[in-house]
Amino acid sequence: MTAKKPRLLTGDTPTGRLHLGHWVGSIENRIALQDQYECFFIIANMHAFTTRMEKPDEIRQSVLDIATDYLAAGIDPKRSTMFVQSDIPAIPELTFFFSMLIPYPRLMRNPTIKDEIRDKGLGDNYPFGFLLYPVGQVADVLAFRPEIVPVGEDQIPHLEMTREVARRFNQLYCNVDSHTEDKDYLKKGGLFPIVDVKLGRARRLVGITGPDAHGNLLKMSKSLNNAIFLSDDPDTIAKKVRAMYTDPKRLKATDPGTVENNPLWIFHEMFNPDEKWVAESEERYRNGAIGDVEAKKKLIDVLVALIEPIRQRRLVFEKEPEEVLKILREGAEKANAIANETLHLAKKYMKQNF
Ligand code: TRP
Repeated sequence: MTAKKPRLLTGDTPTGRLHLGHWVGSIENRIALQDQYECFFIIANMHAFTTRMEKPDEIRQSVLDIATDYLAAGIDPKRSTMFVQSDIPAIPELTFFFSMLIPYPRLMRNPTIKDEIRDKGLGDNYPFGFLLYPVGQVADVLAFRPEIVPVGEDQIPHLEMTREVARRFNQLYCNVDSHTEDKDYLKKGGLFPIVDVKLGRARRLVGITGPDAHGNLLKMSKSLNNAIFLSDDPDTIAKKVRAMYTDPKRLKATDPGTVENNPLWIFHEMFNPDEKWVAESEERYRNGAIGDVEAKKKLIDVLVALIEPIRQRRLVFEKEPEEVLKILREGAEKANAIANETLHLAKKYMKQNF
């Protein structure tokens, strides 16, 4: 008999194909955790509608792209469950109840919501559902009552809200004392665990283009056109790396260069397994003893070695869209079994089980 593994839930909003930022922020973590945890990966298509409700075809394609990327990156449907958010009706049902446990001003203080309104230029013209999505994310998580939720840094405010909702629900409806320590809520009769966040090894990956007007490097993102994708072929990777922003003050290879805040070296530190070469070459760069061209050539090799096996596996899954859909449907079935059980229990605790 095997001991029951602790449960893990995380996921992505389908905004297109996955890139290296997703990889270091979460995907490589997930692949490594598949044996230790019972993993659930949610493709949050309803969240995609908050900003792209007029583009259903594009969202559909993004869902299939992400599912295909998951499989190519090494998420194994025999061990892990991947599914589409809108296939899980318990999630919106829980969202409605949870939305009562979050004061409106609390939601408006959520820094990720503020950042998104600014970065996506939403002004004050966003739909009501945009503000609802963090509550929906609370339900995505709690429907599965997981132990850990591996995410990137930008998701921490949503996870903090998840913890707050879980505490309140347990206190209001399961009679758990408000002085209870987070780790003890289940023992004291609560329904929802106070989840732990697990950050990826990179809190945030920069893109390949230069800084914004304030001198800050922007994070890698499809919409900023500064991403290297897990599905890029070697030529595309080479082109992107050759055009990558480095030290703008360095005009020739013998000029001393700056390593800090330089995407070229940020990427080497993040992806090049040859740490000794990286340390020595950074020193040479500082002294004007290695050119951008040489360091970029090395980086191209490193990234192609990481991405090319993923891309090759992707080509296989791309030829079998029916197989990908089947994996998503089977995933939804497994996910519904758990989410429905959670909803049933939540209604019972709220005394709405008629
Ligand atoms: N909001 C997350 C993102 O944009 C995606 C997401 C939706 C998620 N539901 C989740 C992540 C639940 C973790 C847990 O990346």
